[in-house]
Amino acid sequence: MMAQPVNEWERRLYLAAHPVGYPFLRTLARIGPVVRVPSVGVVVNDAALAREVLLDGETFRKDGPGSSGALWTPVLGPSVLLNMEGAAHHELRRRLAGLFTPGSAEQICSDVLAGQSADLGSRLASGAAVDLVEVARAAAGAVICALIGLDGGRGREMVDDGERITAMIGLRTRAMSLAQQDSARAVLGGITASAATAYQAAGTTTVVGRMRGLDLSEEEAVGAAAAFFLTGTETVATFVPRLIALLCDTGELDRVSASPDELLDPAIDEALRVTTPSPAMLRSVAAPGRVGRIKVRSGDRIVLATHNCARALGPFDLDRPHPPELRHLWFGAGPHFCIGYPLAMAEIRTLARTVLAHTPLRVVRRAATRGVLIPTYRILEVARS
Ligand code: HEM
Repeated sequence: MMAQPVNEWERRLYLAAHPVGYPFLRTLARIGPVVRVPSVGVVVNDAALAREVLLDGETFRKDGPGSSGALWTPVLGPSVLLNMEGAAHHELRRRLAGLFTPGSAEQICSDVLAGQSADLGSRLASGAAVDLVEVARAAAGAVICALIGLDGGRGREMVDDGERITAMIGLRTRAMSLAQQDSARAVLGGITASAATAYQAAGTTTVVGRMRGLDLSEEEAVGAAAAFFLTGTETVATFVPRLIALLCDTGELDRVSASPDELLDPAIDEALRVTTPSPAMLRSVAAPGRVGRIKVRSGDRIVLATHNCARALGPFDLDRPHPPELRHLWFGAGPHFCIGYPLAMAEIRTLARTVLAHTPLRVVRRAATRGVLIPTYRILEVARS
């Protein structure tokens, strides 16, 4: 098979997901660090400027018009972290701080994913072609089920449900239609009902149950569970196959599998930079000011094009360090930095380590999914070579 140009498949995934929006977004990156685009907003393509915006939660907010909060508040209510600001947000984050430590996240994953990892390992060892898309979706679904106390068997279908909700959102979406809100609520109803039961049971076996011990009200705990589902399922499920495909395409899989303790985390970080599973972040301007050379007014919508910021460094390169302004930008920065970061890393490591233990591997079949928010493989089959 001919070697793929670096990142070629990543480009195909983005184009399948956003045939018009992606070329447009990449063109904006060439125009300048900050660009005002009618009917889209002020688009930021530069990592240092994006970080400045993220760190200034007073001026650039997630609860104003055009922000992601505005998209989700009609569906989730007003207090679900990702649409909160100021003291209330700070206080809820403080109470949730101990929820996902690196240790507890590793424990959740080793408990929940032990069976699936063992099955993945034995299928790879047998020489069978394994679809990593199915594997990663089942795993991400099982983890979210465990957080909210749902039967893990429903996890796989929940990932599809989540994808249908986020597929309603594009670069220009400022609000969901009433029909879209209804279908989002119908899907989320299953999550919130189960989260409410886990909260009332108040045990320590589910993360939502533990939230009661952290003094969260039922409404706050159920809202947090819905936010975890929306932000923490598809991102992880889509990323794992992209990581392995990138390592295969760049010829780095064997090197990482020879020294996983040293190279796996840098490989994950670099693949997150190239893929940016959350390709953009939205803010609403609360007071007049500037972003770089562009003046902004109250009510302006800011689109932080994480993907453009991250891609400015070039194609996948495991040996190139990330400059400070880029550090973990794909998980955000400042007050809204991804609360699920330790859990995401633990899930990714658990699956990646199993795959890496069965190299050499090659991609035997793959295809991209069309019309989704987060670019993804529809199928990515790998087999021992
Ligand atoms: C590779 C996987 C993931 C990526 C790339 C990712 C990315 C992000 C980003 C960029 C933000 C900040 C958004 C902004 O500032 O506008 C964020 C916030 C958030 N993430 Fe993640 N995330 C991932 C996995 C997870 C997981 C596994 C969970 C939980 C189970 C999670 C839960 C959240 C929540 C609740 C927020 C909102 C935090 C707040 O507003 O205070 N994420 N994530």
